[in-house]
Amino acid sequence: MNHSLQGRIALVTGAGSGIGRADALVLAARGATVIVNDFDADAAAATVQQIVDTGGRALPCVADVSQRATICAAIAEAAAQVGEVDILVNNAGIASRQEAFLDVDEARLDRMFGVHVKGSWFCTQAVLPGMQRRRRGKVINTSSILGLSGRRRSSHYAAAKAALIGMTKAWAKEFAEWNVQVNAVAPGRVRTPILGDVADSEAYRKDLLAQVPAGRRAEPEEIAYLVAFLASDESDFITGQIISPNGGEVI
Ligand SMILES: NC(=O)c1ccc[n+]([C@@H]2O[C@H](COP(=O)([O-])OP(=O)(O)OC[C@H]3O[C@@H](n4cnc5c(N)ncnc54)[C@H](O)[C@@H]3O)[C@@H](O)[C@H]2O)c1
Repeated sequence: MNHSLQGRIALVTGAGSGIGRADALVLAARGATVIVNDFDADAAAATVQQIVDTGGRALPCVADVSQRATICAAIAEAAAQVGEVDILVNNAGIASRQEAFLDVDEARLDRMFGVHVKGSWFCTQAVLPGMQRRRRGKVINTSSILGLSGRRRSSHYAAAKAALIGMTKAWAKEFAEWNVQVNAVAPGRVRTPILGDVADSEAYRKDLLAQVPAGRRAEPEEIAYLVAFLASDESDFITGQIISPNGGEVI
């Protein structure tokens, strides 16, 4: 077993499913105590149980990342129990139902930015003071291939994911004086529940084979191994970078 994160406290948002759950499991397997955030309490509890069952340490943190007061209080409560956060993985996210630009109403736009942009912003504001005091920290944002290359009928999602790229670069410069590294993963297509039935359709399969040289989707663990590297001391000289595990879809 790789114990490179022994003694570290990690917070993973949206860790009740998909990539976030895989992030939480891999970070725990490497020795971190994981604060498992999700707004779905059952999903968070299931991830915590999986970690505990495999000999790791974890606790739930149930809150909507887009609600500033609620998420900040939940993070403070968890940190009071296990210690201040060394590693923050901003992962909580919602799917982009494909919609023509003119059909995206203000409520959809607000929710997209509320979860991805404001949620990552609030969580980072909650943990940065502790990182500044300890002069050590890792922030890993979850962008998307769509934040890099865009896609028609997904401009609200692409815009929110591109905002995360700007935040990653600006924070990397601003937080460097406290030895806090900030990077983003920008996954391509990953086999998680986020797309619902869409991913089972023949049209999706055809598009995948046409667009992705690897000819398949990633497993969530393939993103989590990269997140674990970015969370470790081995990546201390890497900051402000956007790394896109995407099977060659965007190079
Ligand atoms: N799956 C992909 O192909 C893919 C590709 C690129 C980027 N991403 C990004 O990866 C991240 C994880 O996606 P996934 O595919 O694992 O999705 P998922 O639906 O499997 O998991 C997302 C989790 O986030 C939680 N969540 C959603 N909104 C929340 C909120 N406001 N507060 C707290 N928790 C919240 C959900 O309850 C769920 O457990 C997202 O940011 C997504 O945009 C996914």
